[in-house]
Amino acid sequence: MVWKRTISSKALEKAGYAPVKVDDKVVFIANINGNLYGMDAVCSHARCILGILDPENLKVKCRCHDAVFDLKTGAMLEPPYVAKDAPKEKLGLKTYQVRDNGGWIEVDV
Ligand code: FES
Repeated sequence: MVWKRTISSKALEKAGYAPVKVDDKVVFIANINGNLYGMDAVCSHARCILGILDPENLKVKCRCHDAVFDLKTGAMLEPPYVAKDAPKEKLGLKTYQVRDNGGWIEVDV
């Protein structure tokens, strides 16, 4: 495990979610009712940065072509509208462990 510091816990709590740079990755982190989530923030379809969070259903929609991802598993739930026939299982995103460590959000990369 390699934990990397990102933004303050207060900043994430206030924003609810944010894409953050972690080494050479961009990770979509979210704080939903005190639960922390992390998933690749670069869409697997055409590399847009995610996205629009649906906190009640733990889903994230890509702004570019509306692909929808499961925040807990990274699975693609709905394909991009421009590639409806793309195999969803190949377009899932990696998820990460996220923790609050002394007021800082850390991601295990
Ligand atoms: S870049 Fe995300 S759905 Fe196309």
